Parts: sequence; C-alpha cells; structure tokens
Amino acid sequence: ANYPIQDSSGRQFKTLRVSLTAVCNMACVYCVTPGAIHTPSAEKVLTVEEYLSIIKNIHSQVGLKTIRLTGGEPLLFKELPVLIKGIKALGITDIKLTTNGLKLLSVLDALVEAGLTSINISLDALDPAVFRNITKNQDLRAVLDGIEAARHKGIAIKINTVVLRGVNDHQIIPLLEYASARNIPIRFLELMKMGYLHYNESDYFFGMDDIVEKISSVTSVAKMDRAPSNTATYWQTSKGMVFGVIANESEPFCSDCNRLRLDSYGKIYGCISASEGIQIKHQSAEQLSFSLQNALAQKQEYFTGSEISMKHLGG
Ligand code: GTP
Ligand code: 5AD
Repeated sequence: ANYPIQDSSGRQFKTLRVSLTAVCNMACVYCVTPGAIHTPSAEKVLTVEEYLSIIKNIHSQVGLKTIRLTGGEPLLFKELPVLIKGIKALGITDIKLTTNGLKLLSVLDALVEAGLTSINISLDALDPAVFRNITKNQDLRAVLDGIEAARHKGIAIKINTVVLRGVNDHQIIPLLEYASARNIPIRFLELMKMGYLHYNESDYFFGMDDIVEKISSVTSVAKMDRAPSNTATYWQTSKGMVFGVIANESEPFCSDCNRLRLDSYGKIYGCISASEGIQIKHQSAEQLSFSLQNALAQKQEYFTGSEISMKHLGG
C-alpha cells in the first residue's frame, strides 16, 4: 500500500508508542518532582477496545511496523495480554514493551504467549543503595529476577540506563560487564531536558563523550554506524562487548524520527516534546487523516526540551 502521510522532510509514522497509563510504581529522580502529589487526570482512560480501535485506524492510514507499549509503567495495565493479542490480530507483528521491570517476573509468560516480541528494561544501577536513591524503590532484586527470567524465556531484551553525573556514572562499567556477561545489549541514555530535572539538568548531565571516555579506560572502542530511525548509536569494544548510547542532547536523531505517540486518554503527539496532544478517540477516518497531518507538523528539527515528564508519554 502507498501511505501518503509524510512531512516535508519525508518523515512518516512507522512506530506507534502507546502509553497505557500515566501512573508508575517507581519515582525516579529525573522524572518525578520530589513531594509532588499525584493528581489523577479527570480524563477517562482508554479501554482495551478503545486502544485497539484507535491502533487499527492509525494502522490503516500509515501502515505501522512497530507498536511499543509504554507508560507510566505499562505492566500496571491489567489487560496487557489481551491488548497484545488484539494488536497481533491487526497484523502488526513487531510488538515491544518498555518497562521498569518490577512486575515482569509474574506476567512474563502471559506476555510472550500473547505475542510480545521484545522488552526494553530500565536499570540505572546494580548497587542497591544507588538503585534506591534513583528510583525510590527498594526492589532491585525483582528487576534483576525479571531480566533473568526474560533471558531464559528467549525473548529479545535490552537494558536502558539513564546516566546521571555524580549519581550513577560509576555504575557504567559494572552495568556493561553485567550486560555483556549475559549477552544483553545495553544502552546508556543521556539525560533529556524533561520533567523535574528540566531546569537543573546541566548539573547531572553525563554525555556521550563522557560515557565513551569512561568505557575507553577499560577497553578500546569503535563506533558503528547508526541505523536509520534508531535512537541508539552503538560501539564495539575490543573485549567483544557492544553498547549503545542514546545521545538525545549531543547527537539528536530527530531528522529521521518515525515515531507517533498515543497517550492513555486518546491523544496523539507527533513529538515527545509537543505540549498539546490531539484527541482522536471519536474521529472518523477523514478527521484522523487531518489529525495525523497535524501531528506530523509537531515534529521538530531538534529536541528543545519539555516540561512534561516521561511519565505521561513514556520516553
Ligand atoms: P528500540 O526499538 O529498542 O531501539 O527502542 P527505543 O530506544 O526507541 O525505545 P525505548 O522505549 O527503549 O526508549 C529509550 C529512549 O529513547 C527514551 O528514553 C528516550 O530517551 C529516547 N527516545 C525514544 N523515542 C524518542 C523520540 O521520539 N525522540 C527523542 N528525542 N528521544 C526518544
Ligand atoms: N532523560 C532520559 N531518559 C529518561 N527516561 C525517563 N526520563 C528520562 C529523562 N529525563 C528513560 C527511562 C526509560 C526510558 C523509556 O526513558 O528510564 O529507560
């Protein structure tokens, strides 16, 4: 099929990132404002049927390749296996999940059986005290058990580590060794100007060059070419390890971005930093086509920062 919806730079929507809830069972320092009281939105959250109907309508107009399920924390969405089965039935076979891993162990089998194809798990530290300091959660063990179970299940997994200067940059090498020993690709993320740290990001920023320099002190590294539309650039080390850096700030990848986002209230966003979503829940095909064009117009040349935290749109 020919999908005409694209912007003047030729960017199309091929990946839909679907937020299943704005709630999270962690409170990471870079995301949540300390002491903030969570006020649930008055807007009605989508049901499984509504998600599937919206995804189907978008798919028919843009020809989606990938659905990535995010949050908040997507494992808090109770009917996740039903949703995954429904997405698979629409003919979309690339169905991925980004999770903090806390609840992974108990639902893993059901998710894989439903048709989930890969999982990105956030892991910012291996030292329990550092993990607790960042996530405000004690249960590092639960996350590690989830990773171990996923690995043995044979589903593709990756680890995401947000690096904060003076907080967990000393965890880079232990995490790289942990991931390499298990053959799990690991990506180190530059802190984005989002959420709570939007205004004092520079104190904590630990960039791609810093990350690569740190790893170079233990092994020599060679940069690989970044695949189109990929968030990460990968390096190969002489010890046979591979790691990625998601360099949102120092090497923005907006120019070939193919992502569209749907939040848990039925609004779409053409960019992670768009301040306003476009409500599409009850739209006809014609209205949706117009909304998709407007979402494309939200795409930017560079990421400029956002006061919205990742919790709403899931990274
Ligand atoms: P893969 O398909 O495994 O490469 O996943 P991904 O990297 O696209 O998704 P993931 O949920 O693991 O996101 C990791 C990080 O990539 C997020 O935290 C963001 O920092 C960044 N990211 C994802 N999508 C975008 C985007 O559209 N724009 C920007 N600037 N950053 C993004
Ligand atoms: N900067 C970079 N990464 C972030 N994440 C959440 N907030 C930020 C931020 N401000 C990460 C999560 C998860 C991924 C989807 O995004 O830790 O790994």
